[in-house]
Amino acid sequence: MVDYCRAKAKTAQLTMFFFFIIIKLSKQKEAKKVNNSDIMRIDTVSFDESTDELVIIDQTKLPNETVLLRLSDKKDIFEAIYKLQVRGAPAIGVAAAIGLYAVAKRLPDSDYDRFSTELCDIKDYLCSSRPTAVNLAWALERMWDVVKANQGLPAAKLKPLLKAKALQIRDDDIKCCRAIGENGLTLIKDGDGILTHCNAGQLATVRYGTALAPIHVGREKGMNFKVFTDETRPLLQGARLSSYEMAADGVDTTVICDNMAASVMKKGWINAVFVGADRVAANGDTANKIGTMGVAIMAKHFGIPFYVCAPLSTIDMNCPDGDSIKIEQRAAEEVTEMWYEKRMAPIGVKVFNPAFDVTDNDMVTAFVTERGVIYPPYSENFKKLFEK
Ligand code: MRU
Repeated sequence: MVDYCRAKAKTAQLTMFFFFIIIKLSKQKEAKKVNNSDIMRIDTVSFDESTDELVIIDQTKLPNETVLLRLSDKKDIFEAIYKLQVRGAPAIGVAAAIGLYAVAKRLPDSDYDRFSTELCDIKDYLCSSRPTAVNLAWALERMWDVVKANQGLPAAKLKPLLKAKALQIRDDDIKCCRAIGENGLTLIKDGDGILTHCNAGQLATVRYGTALAPIHVGREKGMNFKVFTDETRPLLQGARLSSYEMAADGVDTTVICDNMAASVMKKGWINAVFVGADRVAANGDTANKIGTMGVAIMAKHFGIPFYVCAPLSTIDMNCPDGDSIKIEQRAAEEVTEMWYEKRMAPIGVKVFNPAFDVTDNDMVTAFVTERGVIYPPYSENFKKLFEK
């Protein structure tokens, strides 16, 4: 049995390795480089009306270069999501919705049956790019609802409806994040020290972010905070992205290695932890970037409030608890060599690289949503939240 499991793990690792190589070799259309200081003024995900293309900031190039990618091919969009060129649950959702429209626009103007069959395959294909962030499936299902609600309409009539839905998903994301920012700001005061893990900022949404939205909204009101960003191994979303966007907004920012959070908390520098979420189960168990659970345990130890900031589209009421959340496993190379000049682990060594972990609901002080701050008991209060 153990041998069988080992063989299975090895096969999975090899598959991921080849997938990683194929993705590395494929080409993408690079739109333009822009001045790095503009980052806060560029939407992370946008739509070019004149060309019907999805436009994203290529996050794998940050912080050194700000490159915009223009996408309209399903493989390029899949690759951009898998490779984390666009990442963060809400941003992936908006990118998939606009991306699905960009692909649909280029399909022939056929009848309903042919168009809907093709579109359904493309939707499922894009949805398979990352399994944990529920916003991806959520946004694609909202797009698919348009097709289902307009049975019999030919492609030429469905296309404008799909475009309107994709743009609505984008606009709603901006509104929700702004509201999360306002609601989160009620929990902190000027000058507070905030610790965050991964990047759940503007770069993970269209604008503002979720966990970092209170900071951006606070900045607009003339407030300042001391933000500590965990570097967030292995893909360094904290070091490369959160610290970059915080500094670009003029925030007092300090990058720490993931293993320094306890020391920083013990020094009394942290008043609150703000993190985002990839999927929140109906009981409040929360999947977020690997390492989040450890931060929550430390926060509890030091009596620091631990807030999860997420829009309702991240709360999956069909998922009863954390055990039901599928956790994405990623390529071993991300751990052993991706960010190093030379490989940092022996060839052939086993690597465990889950992208996310699940924080138990009893470690979450409150959820900050666009409809307000939600305290326990979560099972009950989430139900009320969706009834509002
Ligand atoms: O693998 P990533 O970079 O997509 O992981 C992102 C996170 O874990 C974020 O915290 C989460 O998606 C919330 S983004 C507002």
